[in-house]
Amino acid sequence: TIKACLFDLDGVLVDTAVYHFKAWRRLAQTLGIDFTEHDNERLKGVSRVRSLEIILEIGGQTLPQEQMLALCEQKNTEYLLDVAQMTPEEILPGVVDFLKALKAEGIKIALGSASKNAQLILERTQLLPYFDAIIDGRHVTNGKPDPEVFLKGAEALGVTPQECVVFEDAVAGVEAAKNGDMLCVGVGQPEVLTQADVVEKDLTQMSVARLRELEQKG
Ligand code: BG6
Ligand code: MG
Repeated sequence: TIKACLFDLDGVLVDTAVYHFKAWRRLAQTLGIDFTEHDNERLKGVSRVRSLEIILEIGGQTLPQEQMLALCEQKNTEYLLDVAQMTPEEILPGVVDFLKALKAEGIKIALGSASKNAQLILERTQLLPYFDAIIDGRHVTNGKPDPEVFLKGAEALGVTPQECVVFEDAVAGVEAAKNGDMLCVGVGQPEVLTQADVVEKDLTQMSVARLRELEQKG
């Protein structure tokens, strides 16, 4: 039986994906690299420095480590200007109702995010009180598609991977869930999130009853 839900943050609970994209695109422009929305799918769920590596790959460029770290810093500074303006209104549709329903049912809730800004974003959007555990970019050594972030989440909640459902909008994140032997609800387009057990466009249709249905697939 399902005892816990593990949520990715960016693109599942809040629409920060647009801010990440905006900041990376501007940085890519300064490097003379044309970075499109299509390319951006590859950045979802992966770490900050890995994101820059992918952008440089797209542009056929390489840079010394030191300069890469400076650019990551620059991107994050710009990103944080948008984060500072965030309010609970930027929580994606269906999220709060679903979190409340899980709480009422005694199903545990954890965050499994690659972001080092996760805590700050949960605070700004007032989502923090819903979480029983938070595993984010500061706690993992292996980024998605490695399952580390979700396995640590399950461990923190005291449940097995088979008792977990992961909610993910990123290809790398869905892979991480499946690599961890967990059920996965993809949030986005079925054509993109092909490995997910089921795909929803957002969390508006999610309920404890739907989780119980999903359980049959596990
Ligand atoms: C993930 C995003 O949640 O966090 C990625 O999907 C991002 O796009 C990653 O690169 C790291 O985020 P941050 O906030 O530490 O730069
Ligand atoms: Mg995401």
